[in-house]
Amino acid sequence: MKPSILVARAVFPQILTQLAQHFEVTSNQEDVIWSASELMHKLQGKQGVFTTGSQRIDAELLAACPELKICANMAVGYNNFDLDAMTAAGVLATNTPDVLTETTADFGFALIMATARRMAESEHFLRAGLWNSWRYDMFAGSDVHGSTLGILGMGRIGQAIAKRGAHGFGMKVVYHNRSRLDAALEAACGASYVSKSELLQQADHLILVLPYSPEAHHAIGAAELAQMKPTATLVNIARGGIVDDAALADALKNGTIAAAGLDVFEGEPKVHPDLLTVPNVVLTPHIASATMPTRLAMAQLAADNLIAYLVHGKPLTPLNPQVVTV
Ligand code: DGY
Repeated sequence: MKPSILVARAVFPQILTQLAQHFEVTSNQEDVIWSASELMHKLQGKQGVFTTGSQRIDAELLAACPELKICANMAVGYNNFDLDAMTAAGVLATNTPDVLTETTADFGFALIMATARRMAESEHFLRAGLWNSWRYDMFAGSDVHGSTLGILGMGRIGQAIAKRGAHGFGMKVVYHNRSRLDAALEAACGASYVSKSELLQQADHLILVLPYSPEAHHAIGAAELAQMKPTATLVNIARGGIVDDAALADALKNGTIAAAGLDVFEGEPKVHPDLLTVPNVVLTPHIASATMPTRLAMAQLAADNLIAYLVHGKPLTPLNPQVVTV
């Protein structure tokens, strides 16, 4: 008998077709957003689940779904997983590293540029019919080329952004990370390690690319924003909750920093109402990895992990490999 799996959100039809060759598949092509108890109910009798970042897998759910063996996240971030609880329950977690690195770095860079060059603000102005004449300082922003790029979190995506900045835009690149890169990698990225305070103080454009963890909660709040240059910009493509969005809205209103670009939000898809009213912020709905080829590659890797583990016993990108016993 084929194992049973749940695909918790809508996905590319060809991925469902592939999964159906190996599994009894329950899908959600209507893309209904299930509550935790609905998800628990749908998972009864399932050995695997294909998740996106929006399904929380925790001890309570695992206790209610004893047949579950693998949760394959279609995301590189996995803060929707309680990894300790999954490991304790013997449930494998997988994510989708590498396949989205360059696409996400492209978007991070696009958001840096859109923020520095006030693209959203000026587009709204034009659409509102307010453009009557040229003016010397109209929507004058800050330069990206030749400026100092600060990167908080220097994993694969941080490194790909550093290369774009250092080698493409002649930027001085400084970074802070839990652990320092080795000298060869620093040289390849054209980046120098600094303390978090130095990063905040030196960056003309600061981008956040660190994973969410309880320690990273509000890593950028009022105190950190106060250390930044008043001309600086802040971009968050990492996770909501790393920035204190209320403090950021205040900083944008008060001129503590010049502008921000945000792809992720605390409590998304809700957005802090104050962020919606300040002009100097570019807002996008968590789309940093959203190109069709990359989203397809992410879905494929999540599906391949389900097949590799449930059919062959060998996951491709496990987060807690210690649960693999076969
Ligand atoms: C990820 O992969 O973690 C992204 O944030 C989801 O698109």
